Amino acid sequence: MAKNPLQTKLCDSLGIEYPIVAFTHCKDVVAAVTNAGGFAVMGETHHTPDEIEADIRWIREKVGDKPFGIDLVFPASVPAMGSIDELKAQIPQAQRDYAEDIKKRHNIPPPKNTPELYELGWMTQEVPRKQLEVVLDEKVAVLASGLGSPVFILEAAHERGMQVWGLVGKPRQAKRELEAGVDAIIAQGFDAAGHTGAIGTFSIVSQVAAIAGDTPVIAAGGITTGTHLAAAITLGAAGVWTGTLWLACRESDKEMVIKEKVLRATAEDTSHSACVSGFTMRTLKSKWHEEWAKPEAPKPAPAPYQLLLFAEMKQSAMDWNLEDFMTEAAGQGVGFINEMKPAREIVFDMAEEALSVFEDVTGVAAEAEE
Ligand SMILES: Cc1cc2nc3c(=O)[nH]c(=O)nc-3n(C[C@H](O)[C@H](O)[C@H](O)COP(=O)(O)O)c2cc1C
Repeated sequence: MAKNPLQTKLCDSLGIEYPIVAFTHCKDVVAAVTNAGGFAVMGETHHTPDEIEADIRWIREKVGDKPFGIDLVFPASVPAMGSIDELKAQIPQAQRDYAEDIKKRHNIPPPKNTPELYELGWMTQEVPRKQLEVVLDEKVAVLASGLGSPVFILEAAHERGMQVWGLVGKPRQAKRELEAGVDAIIAQGFDAAGHTGAIGTFSIVSQVAAIAGDTPVIAAGGITTGTHLAAAITLGAAGVWTGTLWLACRESDKEMVIKEKVLRATAEDTSHSACVSGFTMRTLKSKWHEEWAKPEAPKPAPAPYQLLLFAEMKQSAMDWNLEDFMTEAAGQGVGFINEMKPAREIVFDMAEEALSVFEDVTGVAAEAEE
């Protein structure tokens, strides 16, 4: 019997059974993954400090003492502060005009509801600092940052017994964060949903694993199957960080129209473009993407201004059911998501498939769980 390759140093440091980390905005998914023996991180960038506190308490009621994480973002290049109206007034004219032109040409009416933007963590640098206070007060097991370096939090988090994880897309960012003492480093490749760099998952994971020493490396970007999990561990990762995988699971609170798009999509249906947020971001293709890729289109506005334009259009698309204009962050692994399974089953299936890959490759069965 061989040692169980899924019992990694990430499992040891968190006291979890499977090295599978779910990133999600849905607290039901957090509870289901945590209770299945995985680890979940709740994205809280779009919530007020009071909402974050309520979510943390709700999750604790569902998972008891089991650990979970909160994700915030700390982008350095957005304005220090400012209200949504002040930011809107600063949207560059060329992009504002082009967005208006798209809406006119496609007969997109104004939204019925106001886009929920005010508390969005990466509109200004001020908002995430306030969100951070509640996460520190609540002493959540892990504070992860999907955008921007979290090293300024290290001391305060460690004093409270919390781990800090940074997400990187380049080896030099990884080196900086490792030297500062992050507790785990998420090495994310081009395949990923959301904000990504240009280096592919295979290359970034191997490069970061080579310099990480004892710090667990968590592979991210396009990971949706047990084969991907086995590959990530073989590359030197101690676990996987997954986002797209949970979008269409049973517990996910995503709109059904988005779930259906995810279930239908293949790797070719995603686009890596700055047209959604102003940072390069992988999302499902839509008419909005087509419009901003036209030769006559201006370059998307920088963050956060492009997001203000997109958010208004997105709200119209949702309010008026304009499916061609609906999009969501999704990675290239989306093509492997073909059914709506319960989150618990996704965790178990992924672990089982990874173990059988190791068994096939080595010809040796892993030690059974105690
Ligand atoms: C719908 C969706 C929303 C996301 N929103 C955030 C976010 O608010 N903050 C963040 O750090 N990462 C966000 N991400 C990125 C994930 O944290 C993760 O890095 C990415 O999904 C990994 O790639 P994968 O989707 O191919 O697994 C989001 C991903 C998805 C699918």
